[in-house]
Amino acid sequence: MNLKKHIAHHVRDIPRSGIRDFFEIVQSMKSVISLGIGEPDFNTPWHIREAAIYSLEKGRTGYTSNLGLPRLRESIATYVHANFGIAYDGQTEVLVTVGVSEAIDLALRALVNPGDEVLYHEPCYVSYSPSIVLAHGIPVSIPTFARDNFRLTAAELEKKITGASKVLMMNFPCNPTGATQTREELEKIASLCIRHDLIVLTDEIYSELTYDGAQHLSIAALPGMRERTIFLHGFSKAFAMTGFRIGYACAPAILTEAMMKIHQYGILCASSTAQDAAIEALEQGAPDVENMRREYELRRNFVVSSFNEIGLDCFKPFGSFYVFPSIAATGLTSQEFSYRLLKEKSVAVVPGPAFGASGEGFVRACYATSLDQLKTAMVRIAEFVAETRAASAAA
Ligand SMILES: Cc1ncc(COP(=O)(O)O)c(C=O)c1O
Repeated sequence: MNLKKHIAHHVRDIPRSGIRDFFEIVQSMKSVISLGIGEPDFNTPWHIREAAIYSLEKGRTGYTSNLGLPRLRESIATYVHANFGIAYDGQTEVLVTVGVSEAIDLALRALVNPGDEVLYHEPCYVSYSPSIVLAHGIPVSIPTFARDNFRLTAAELEKKITGASKVLMMNFPCNPTGATQTREELEKIASLCIRHDLIVLTDEIYSELTYDGAQHLSIAALPGMRERTIFLHGFSKAFAMTGFRIGYACAPAILTEAMMKIHQYGILCASSTAQDAAIEALEQGAPDVENMRREYELRRNFVVSSFNEIGLDCFKPFGSFYVFPSIAATGLTSQEFSYRLLKEKSVAVVPGPAFGASGEGFVRACYATSLDQLKTAMVRIAEFVAETRAASAAA
């Protein structure tokens, strides 16, 4: 039986994630230092795990409201107001989701009609383009460049806007580049969005992880933007809660209601245990986030200077826990560099094109791993680059 022909075409034609394929190889190898998967190496802070345990002990194991526990929604509204300066009504404008992943999917499915164009900056998180296709939209990538420290510029955005453009997806601090936006550039982007009546999805998942005193600014906080923005955030990165699978979307009630309908029929509600843990994270977790952030900042400083000393140009990102060095100096493609580094030195980094074609010539290294491991990894990368250069000089 030819089962393949029964698969919906738009699903069949989506490529598998390049990262997943690469990490299947990594997992089959012994003693690899992985700078690959974008996951905190910290355990979820103990008091947050305890809140999950108590939740189970108290028998809080039923469905919650589709929107999420009222207390969690209120805590989210308070947190977003305090940290981002944007006011949402916890009862009607906040939806608790299964990670930011679900929130992205809901937002796109709630907004996109077949044939609508969805703009996103590239290199970007691996799920953006496939999520747009799954929502029957047309992905339109906007390149970002090393020369601009991978900022999205209004000038590049404007080039890609057409009569069919409906949504702009943004993620700053950015996975995979670590890029952040300046207020000036964000204001220009906001004014384009208003002029062209675009809805913005802003994925703020790394917003707590900013460095050098940089103040994160969400586009949703700019004048005229709250009403046209879906603000997506979650607990996976800053609170080290990836496995809890908990996130949220904040937006004007009419948009929240549209997303809630899809969530209600597809998911019903996020896990009650995870929701109780999330309340604890928001209400008591700020010192843990700050401790982890400080540790990431030290690691970032080390990794950026090491890459530059090795001769792989790397800009110093102000956010997230990724660096995106150029590997052009080795003469290898991103794929060759990553596979050979893995095979010859047992260090895993992700080839840049996994985040879109414009990632060619770069690799992503995640520094959410201990400083000791990072030091060993950088020694091995230095050896690999020196050996590669010596071999090409001899050829
Ligand atoms: C930019 C970005 N958005 C969303 C996600 C998914 O987050 P969650 O674990 O909340 O689903 C990730 C995970 O790596 C990410 O990097």
